[in-house]
Amino acid sequence: MLKEIHEQPNSVKDSMRGRLRANEGIIVLGGIRDYQQKLVQAKRIIIVGCGTSYYAGLVGEYLIEDLARIPVEVEYASEFRYRNPVINADDVVIAISQSGETADTLAAIELAKAKGATIFGICNVVGSSIARTTHAGAYTHAGPEIGVASTKAFTAQLTILSLMALTIAHERGTITESRYHELLIELEQVPQKISLAMENEAQIKYIADVFKDSRNFLYLGRGYNYPVALEGALKLKEISYIHAEGYPAAEMKHGPIALIDEEMPVVVVATNESAFEKIMSNIQEVKARHGRVIVITTENNRHLRESAEFVIEIPRTAEPFTPMISVVPLQLLAYHIAVLLNRNVDQPRNLAKSVTVE
Ligand code: G6P
Repeated sequence: MLKEIHEQPNSVKDSMRGRLRANEGIIVLGGIRDYQQKLVQAKRIIIVGCGTSYYAGLVGEYLIEDLARIPVEVEYASEFRYRNPVINADDVVIAISQSGETADTLAAIELAKAKGATIFGICNVVGSSIARTTHAGAYTHAGPEIGVASTKAFTAQLTILSLMALTIAHERGTITESRYHELLIELEQVPQKISLAMENEAQIKYIADVFKDSRNFLYLGRGYNYPVALEGALKLKEISYIHAEGYPAAEMKHGPIALIDEEMPVVVVATNESAFEKIMSNIQEVKARHGRVIVITTENNRHLRESAEFVIEIPRTAEPFTPMISVVPLQLLAYHIAVLLNRNVDQPRNLAKSVTVE
């Protein structure tokens, strides 16, 4: 798992390789070209997946709605397939799966296909069942992922979703030409910024040691970082067996705040500059109840540095791409806590890398 976490600057670069030519303002997603107009003209996009791939889908919802202005629904494949969903022939379904073999995701695709929807796949494993069943798609090219807890597949999925959202936005004219170019240049720099984010590993290891005996963790995030909070909590649960919940920061007052005391570490993912004020007040609420705050934020954020017990700094990027960078310290935190607790991080109990049966 550690190897795969550290591979991310390269795996994200591999996901973009030959697809992103930022200086020329070009994105080429060869696997979707024939069906690209379906995406551009979609009235609605439904994203399905399980586990970490579902969380990537949630980031996809923020990306596509924010940049391309098409309504997006994200659903657990297992729920989608059994709840008699409304699917129309002009709907587009994006199925996300690292392995390309997850039974629920495959069944969700079959259902949507039977109703006439166009299906795109985002898979890592070349030639997998999901890659073969979909009409079109893009491989993530992250290389084989062996660790049961998904890490590099997640950031690669976000890379493809970013490229897709930018392609649709550009064609639909929902972002200006200058913003499109700015975002392309920014996206190209993400791999290098992931490398920089990893330089905090010694500090993260220290924080892991401080909190390794906690029984519960709360992860909070807003906007693009809400799915990151969910993914951070999932990583911790999967490999350390510590109970962790991810929550949208503003929802804290509707329940989780009742849990906060000196025993409760709260990890706040606060890289969205537009929401700093609000995040600051969430942190004050946690501190007032003696909760212990660990903040993931961008460099030189003095206010957050003064108010949290631990601050992990990551490089700044354009808001739509923050999840690719902000998730990295959360992967490392989960990893180091699990190692300190002597867990088998690569083969956690009761979990399978690929769930091919129900
Ligand atoms: C299992 C794995 C997770 C993964 C999920 C979906 O639960 O342990 O790491 O996120 O399946 O897998 P997929 O291959 O469809 O992305």
